[in-house]
Amino acid sequence: MNWRVPLADIDFGPEEEAAVIGVLRSRWLSMGSVTQEFQQEFAAFTGAKHCLAVANGTAALHLACLALGAGPGDEVIVPSLTFVATANAVRYTGAVPVFADIESLDWLTISPAAIEACITERTRAILVMHYAGFACNMPAILEIARRHQLKVIEDAAHAIGSELEGRMLGTWGDIGCYSFFPNKNMTTGEGGMLATDDDALAERLRILRSHGMTSLSWDRHQGRASTYDVVDLGYNYRIDEMRSALGRVQLKKLSSNNQRRKHLTTLYRELLAELAPDLHIPFHERRGAPCYHIMPVLLPAGADRFRFMEGMKAEGVQTSIHYPPVHQFHIYQQDGFRGRNALTLTEEAAEREVTLPLYPTMQDEQVEWVARAAQNVLRAMGGSD
Ligand SMILES: Cc1ncc(COP(=O)(O)O)c(C=O)c1O
Repeated sequence: MNWRVPLADIDFGPEEEAAVIGVLRSRWLSMGSVTQEFQQEFAAFTGAKHCLAVANGTAALHLACLALGAGPGDEVIVPSLTFVATANAVRYTGAVPVFADIESLDWLTISPAAIEACITERTRAILVMHYAGFACNMPAILEIARRHQLKVIEDAAHAIGSELEGRMLGTWGDIGCYSFFPNKNMTTGEGGMLATDDDALAERLRILRSHGMTSLSWDRHQGRASTYDVVDLGYNYRIDEMRSALGRVQLKKLSSNNQRRKHLTTLYRELLAELAPDLHIPFHERRGAPCYHIMPVLLPAGADRFRFMEGMKAEGVQTSIHYPPVHQFHIYQQDGFRGRNALTLTEEAAEREVTLPLYPTMQDEQVEWVARAAQNVLRAMGGSD
């Protein structure tokens, strides 16, 4: 479809093209010096001691769960208001995801109190997700984890460049996982990154990323190793050099692009408050410095979301839903992962949520167009006038 305002867009230019062509001409295509540079630059940016680039964000989550020892008989506490990969990654290990509710209809991240209510003797880890780039209550979550001796994984797919108390999201827990899928704040097409300060965990992750092998083709090419042993049941979750090259260029643009997202979000808030006051815009509280990954709004309770989204479509505006809750998916219901405790707030937020377009190349006039479209559509539905 030819949207007047698409949901998201990438910011690629001649620098990205040149970076990929440079790799192709170098004739070394997977996990070499470009990946090492990308990892070092991402580590310097986030402040993490170790960063390991991987094939995608889901692979990062899977490896994080494995490296922290999750397996059959274990439970990992997760939000349900997230992309399905967060919970799937737990299931790949044989562990059981246990869903905890969100904080409130204003702060849509996993609730520390709900986490605590889900803990049993089987709980091994807490896997949190910084929805839309807004921080979970990490001090409270780390305190719970310490008290119960649990590991903490951060799904920071939405939170590339978000900070809380001056510390980057993705570096608060034992392991942070980032995604560079095309709708993220920086992209490599497919791609992801692991971050940890723990030397032993970093080594375990490094080995699991490439078949459990003790050395890589790159090491052998460099003359650093002539053979290898296989010491773990690993995977091929490697990234290639073309993607790492894209990542290096995108990382350089990230801070200014996140600033632009902040400006657009502020403009949205002002315009929607005036033109569509019936919409609830979550994340009012001041908590850290978000990276403004997406622009979620909640429709008035009982409003027909399908009608709203169709109305926006007629105005040329693409919208989306973040997210249908994981515990309500057929495969999760069928396999019995229905959530142990009530997920009342998750279900209400998920029913009312609509995501409006947000991307750094978006123009101020496009934000105004979307806000006016929302006003028109709500008016036609009998709301905001
Ligand atoms: C919250 C969240 N977790 C995990 C993922 C999985 O990342 P990927 O698509 O890179 O595997 C995504 C995005 O796609 C996501 O939005």
